[in-house]
Amino acid sequence: MAVQISPSILSADFARLADEAAAVPNADWLHVDVMDNHFVPNLTLGLPVVEALLKATSLPLDCHLMIEDPDRWAPLYAELGAGSVTIHAEASRAPVRTLRQIRSFGARAALALNPGTAVEPYEGLLGEIDMLLLMTVEPGFGGQEFLDMVLPKIRIARALVERYGGEIWIQVDGGVTTDTIARCAEAGADVFVAGSAVYGSADRAAAVEELRVKAATA
Ligand code: DX5
Ligand code: ZN
Repeated sequence: MAVQISPSILSADFARLADEAAAVPNADWLHVDVMDNHFVPNLTLGLPVVEALLKATSLPLDCHLMIEDPDRWAPLYAELGAGSVTIHAEASRAPVRTLRQIRSFGARAALALNPGTAVEPYEGLLGEIDMLLLMTVEPGFGGQEFLDMVLPKIRIARALVERYGGEIWIQVDGGVTTDTIARCAEAGADVFVAGSAVYGSADRAAAVEELRVKAATA
């Protein structure tokens, strides 16, 4: 399992997004949190900002859609050129169709589960996804405390994915820091989103490297 780090621009300076993307050249992805003030109680950005970011960085975009109608919007992010598009299981009414549409545009398709959503009911969707995102905070805001109660679910997800063939990445998002990343890696996660841990540091690239080392040596 190769460790991948996906810094979340939710904690970046929104007036300087191009510079903030350039500050993490050693990252594997740039995590873009799309929030609609309905699925989560916060509002961030949408397709026009993603379109601008695609021109401003060579990092692939990891778009995490925390919105009420992902079936309508997710394919458009893939069509624009996002490298990965994540929809929430709690919000999608037609996940198979939507995940297939995402893939049809050449993007990786991912399914996200809130902390209180069990993974077992989604085993049947493993063939439709390239990544499973297990939220380690309730989605909506950066800088929240990591929820240890998700760790057993990461282990269950890792076992399901291994049984399936091991090709699906397991991402964690929320409260991932140099203190918590090793626990996630030990439990079986391999893609790590970090917002405040990266963009709250003066040296963003050093923060990415420190997270990577902590995850890789866990
Ligand atoms: C929260 C977002 C996260 C957020 C994580 O709902 O999905 O991507 O940026 O922020 P930190 O790493 O600060 O918990
Ligand atoms: Zn996110």
